Amino acid sequence: MTAIKVANLQKYFHIYKRQGGIFSALRSLFNRKKVDVKAVDNISFEIAQGELVGFIGPNGAGKTTTLKCLSGLLYPSSGTISVLGFTPFDRKTDYLKKISLVMGQKNQLYWDLPAMDTFKLNKEIYEIGDSEFAETLKQLTSLLDVADLVDVPTRQLSLGQRMKMELVASLIHKPKVLFLDEPTIGLDVVMQKAMRDFIADYNKKFAATVILTSHYMDDVKKLCKRLIIIDRGKLIYDGTLDKLVEKYADSKFISVEVQNRITEEALNQLGFLHSFEPPKAVFNVPRNKVNKFVSIILNKFKVEDLIIQEPEIEEIIRTVFNRGKS
Ligand SMILES: Nc1ncnc2c1ncn2[C@@H]1O[C@H](COP(=O)(O)OP(=O)(O)OP(=O)(O)O)[C@@H](O)[C@H]1O
Ligand SMILES: [Mg+2]
Repeated sequence: MTAIKVANLQKYFHIYKRQGGIFSALRSLFNRKKVDVKAVDNISFEIAQGELVGFIGPNGAGKTTTLKCLSGLLYPSSGTISVLGFTPFDRKTDYLKKISLVMGQKNQLYWDLPAMDTFKLNKEIYEIGDSEFAETLKQLTSLLDVADLVDVPTRQLSLGQRMKMELVASLIHKPKVLFLDEPTIGLDVVMQKAMRDFIADYNKKFAATVILTSHYMDDVKKLCKRLIIIDRGKLIYDGTLDKLVEKYADSKFISVEVQNRITEEALNQLGFLHSFEPPKAVFNVPRNKVNKFVSIILNKFKVEDLIIQEPEIEEIIRTVFNRGKS
C-alpha cells in the first residue's frame, strides 16, 4: 500500500536581494530585487507503507523544505502531496496524530523541566489514554535506554540523552509516518549507532513509514535499502543503493602486492594501471572485466595480496552530483 505520494511538488521562496556596498541597506528599502529560490523543483515519488527511505543531497538541496511540505508546515507552490490519504497542509488533527517530524537541530523539550513534563503535555495534545501512554512510554524509553532519566531536568542531560528524549516526545503518539531530518547530527559514533538501531526497530515494531535525511552515509548504508537523491531542488536518483553503485561506479579498484621484482612497464601492459608504488600496484578495472583481470594477474605474477574494492559510497555520491552539474 502506498503511504506517501508526491507529484510534481514545487516550493519557491521569494527573497529580496540587496546590492552590496555601504548604502545598500538604505537603498534596498527603495530598490529591492525580488528573486525566486526554487527550493524544490518538480519532484515526484511514491513510498510504500513500512518503507524506510534515505533522502539525501548536499546542503541547500531542498530536503528540509520537502519534509516540511510533507508534514504540512509549508504550503507547496504547486503539485500535490498525499500522506496516508491526507493532504498535509490541511493540518487536520487526525493527520497530525499519525505523523511526526523530528529535526536533529530543533528541540521541543523545556530546558528547566524534566522530559516527563513534555511527554505529559504531548499526551494531552494528542489525546492519548492513560494506559496507552504508560505502555508506549515504557516501550520507547526502554528501547532507547533512558527510562531512569525521564525525571531529570533537561539541562542536566548530555546531548545524546537529550536527543533520545526528543525522540520519545516526538513518538509518544506512535506516528505511522516519520520524517527524520538529520536525527544523528552532532552525536558521537556510539550514540549514532544507538539511534540507528532504534530507528530500525521502530520501523519494524510499528510498521512505520520513515523518510530519513542525513549527511552521514553510515546512516544511509545501515538503514535504507532505497535512496532518493536530490540536488538543487531536483530529483536525480530514486532506487536501491545497490543499483546506484552499479550505475555510477562502473569500475572497481584492485590493489595487488607483487612478490617478485616487477617493472612498471610489465604492469602497464596489463592495462588499467592506476598507480604503482612497489610492491603495491593499484588497477582501476571496469566492472565487467574484473574477474578476467584477476585471473590474468594471478597467472602472471606471484601475488602476495590482492584486494578488490568497491568505491566508497561517499565517492559515488560525489560522482552523481558532479555529473548533475555538467
Ligand atoms: N524560509 C526560507 N526562505 C527563503 N529561502 C529558504 C527558506 N528555507 C529554505 N530556503 C532555501 O531553500 C533551499 C533549500 O533549503 P533546505 O533547507 O530545504 O535544504 P536542505 O537540503 O535541507 O539543506 P541542509 O542539508 O543544509 O539541511 C536553500 O537554498 C535555502 O536557502
Ligand atoms: Mg536541512
